[in-house]
Amino acid sequence: MDEDAGSMERIFNNGAGAIVTKSIGLKPRDGYPNPTIIELEHGILNAVGLPNPGIENFKDEILTLKKSNIPIIGSIFGSDSKEFVTLAKKMQNYGVNALELNMSCPHAKGYGLEIGCDPDLVKEITSQVKKSTKIPIFVKISPNLSNIIDIAKSAKEGNADGIVAINTVKAMKINLELKIPVLSNKIGGYSGNAIKPIGIRCVYEIKENIDIQIIGVGGITTGNDVIEYFMAGASAVQIGSGIYYRGVDVFKKIKNEIISWMKSHNIDNISELIGVAHK
Ligand SMILES: Cc1cc2nc3c(=O)[nH]c(=O)nc-3n(C[C@H](O)[C@H](O)[C@H](O)COP(=O)(O)O)c2cc1C
Repeated sequence: MDEDAGSMERIFNNGAGAIVTKSIGLKPRDGYPNPTIIELEHGILNAVGLPNPGIENFKDEILTLKKSNIPIIGSIFGSDSKEFVTLAKKMQNYGVNALELNMSCPHAKGYGLEIGCDPDLVKEITSQVKKSTKIPIFVKISPNLSNIIDIAKSAKEGNADGIVAINTVKAMKINLELKIPVLSNKIGGYSGNAIKPIGIRCVYEIKENIDIQIIGVGGITTGNDVIEYFMAGASAVQIGSGIYYRGVDVFKKIKNEIISWMKSHNIDNISELIGVAHK
């Protein structure tokens, strides 16, 4: 979730297996004015508005990370397949190991969810990117959909190598004294603890209906959360808000918690757990 090479390196040095960049677009974007992020009782609400330096200015960050041999998943967003293809080719040339197509941001007009709710567009963008590149392609989808299975199917039909589920959940907080929404963009995306059951449900539904690798994300802060995502059908996970809750060494902590759970349950290989909740 962070675009600065230094902070991405710190995360990697604390036990993460790979880094997903912040979503990068064609042109630099400032994002929305403050307030853009607030902590609520059970999660974090944000509408940052996809701030990013633009693909041309992102090259050096990737090159710095490459020097440390950090596996990088380059996240990109665009408004149509042409933009996605341009971004994907550039990211590939910079040397990223895989691409994540963000079709699920809930608060960016003309991007994200506005694209990711249309099965035909999802298929077209995925297949165009896949045809123009040689690295694995993951499609990140939204929980704010009534047709999540159709969207995941479209990604598979477009030859995606995996689905990333989920992005943030559309949400709002109102200030009682001012009687207005707290975020400058009014509506934002909810992340952290509160959304874990939603992420688990989405991963479970995708696994139940489609034969594709799934990367689970949403509300993971402990080893037990990761195990739950694996049981639902994920074969890898991402951690975002968990870094805020438990610090940058959250990855080490979670890894140790997973190992001790596996020992106490006589599990030798975590892959034994993938999808076991499907009976
Ligand atoms: C401040 C903030 C910025 C985010 N930026 C991006 C982004 O640029 N691209 C993206 O695909 N997801 C973005 N996300 C969503 C996260 O990657 C993740 O899908 C979501 O927060 C749920 O996971 P979590 O509960 O572990 O945070 C962002 C989330 C937060 C809180």
